[in-house]
Amino acid sequence: MSDTPSPAAVSMDAIVALAKRRGFIFQSSEIYGGFNGFFDYGPLGAELKKNIRDCWWDDMVRRRDDVVGLESSIIMHPKVWEASGHVAGFTDPLVDCKVSKQRYRADQLFFAAVRVEGIQVTQTTTETVVSTSDGEDRAKHSHTDFDLPPPIGYVSALESERTKEELQEKAELMKRKKAIQGKMLPLEMKDFTLATEAEYALIPSPATGEPGSLTAPRSFNMMFQTNVGAMTDASSVAYLRPETAQGMFVDFKNVVDTGRVKLPFGIAQIGKSFRNEITPRNFIFRSREFEQMEMEYFIHEDADWAKCHEEWITWCEAWLKSIGLPSSHLTRYSHPKEKLAFYSRGTVDIMFAYPFGVQELWGIAARGNYDLTQHANASGKPQEIFDEATKKKFVPHVIEPAVGVDRILLAVLCAGYAEEDVKDEKGNVEKRTVLRFSPRIAPVKVAVLPLIKNKPELVALAQKLYAKLKRRYAVFYDETGNIGKRYRRQDEIGTPWCVTIDFDTIEKPGETFTLRERDSMSQRRITEAELFQLLEEQVF
Ligand code: GAP
Repeated sequence: MSDTPSPAAVSMDAIVALAKRRGFIFQSSEIYGGFNGFFDYGPLGAELKKNIRDCWWDDMVRRRDDVVGLESSIIMHPKVWEASGHVAGFTDPLVDCKVSKQRYRADQLFFAAVRVEGIQVTQTTTETVVSTSDGEDRAKHSHTDFDLPPPIGYVSALESERTKEELQEKAELMKRKKAIQGKMLPLEMKDFTLATEAEYALIPSPATGEPGSLTAPRSFNMMFQTNVGAMTDASSVAYLRPETAQGMFVDFKNVVDTGRVKLPFGIAQIGKSFRNEITPRNFIFRSREFEQMEMEYFIHEDADWAKCHEEWITWCEAWLKSIGLPSSHLTRYSHPKEKLAFYSRGTVDIMFAYPFGVQELWGIAARGNYDLTQHANASGKPQEIFDEATKKKFVPHVIEPAVGVDRILLAVLCAGYAEEDVKDEKGNVEKRTVLRFSPRIAPVKVAVLPLIKNKPELVALAQKLYAKLKRRYAVFYDETGNIGKRYRRQDEIGTPWCVTIDFDTIEKPGETFTLRERDSMSQRRITEAELFQLLEEQVF
């Protein structure tokens, strides 16, 4: 959890309601009560998602000379996941509450010992090592609480924007209930992976509020298993990929041998990934089926990896801004050296201020030559490149920008959402809900509206324009309701422009339309040629 910048003042409830109401996102299998951690994208959501993917692919692959594309299979040979370390290490620490049957991720369950001044002195030592799904061992934690009074009890709370406050409130309540006098010492908040064995039984379950029901954390592998072929035994076990990245490593030699690529170069892929998340949450932020856009950028073993890493972080930030995310919502988080996996040279996350907190959007990792070396060793097939300059073979190193499409989609929904007081034609104040999508990703680029539907000349002109625009852009034709209401409907789905075919269009020379701009709500006359030019410039 990071504290800056402060999350946007928009509620997740409003975002979820709009997403459902206007057909962006539905719960998966809703008629059967939904399926936790899975989502469906409705007509507008599917367009928005496709636009995000297309922008990324155009900018990352088509418009660059040094990146090529790939589409590898979702189910790969199980040995891929043994070599990559996922079978042994793609785990999250899981804690069960034996009473409520609730499950928690230990690193998202926080606790604190409640201590009050003036109670007899004690001494405790804790020491823990825990692995998480990011493949990184948590630093060995060793701590001795000299000169501290013994706890009067423990409090716990799940990770949220209010974890600290919640622990504090619970601690004060405990002190009051036990009628203990004296000053309470500041709480030291820890996550459950750092609890000692003795503490497991003392920490209350967040579900029941009572201690004694939480188990010790155990490693839970997040890969979904399936069986391939007619037999369902150990020999047929396979996995749904938990990341797209391994496809790029496994096909590295195929691309080098066929793709006329020269270092430095990248292989990019967009596709579904699957993780059996213990606690899917925050709408589509953490789900069990999601889509990734990953690129492996291979560099010389002697290249300045830190410079290349920085260049890619800057590229990713600029790209996020190019699809409309404001800089005010974006920050960087550098993973501390001691928490990096042994092979990792550095990881920086681009964080976004979601309504539920500042959270990881895009991870950019410098992974050394770990993955290619692992696959070379496991397959017995060298994964090297020949260096003409030194006449030596070597295994390239890699910089990996990895981002989730769903997380970007949620970010653009949150950043674009606004509720405003505006005046209607009669001067009455009304609410308008608007999604300020960048024209690059807006699901509908232009709405074509004849001013009234019972004037055949207006309708004929509107339909002619609609048919022309439709060949190149996602457009919407709407002739029902008053024009103000039609504008509001388009504002709510983020359409940047409305074009109204009105009486001036047929009565005045030049055949101009009214162009109404979503954000400023300003209106001006525009010809068809000017409209196409505007779209050409803004939708790229
Ligand atoms: N190959 C590296 C890799 O997969 P990651 O940090 O585990 O790294 C990369 O995932 C990105 O994928 C994250 O930054 C996030 O945007 C997205 N992502 C990861 N898990 C996700 C989940 N459960 N739901 C939605 N998006 C997820």
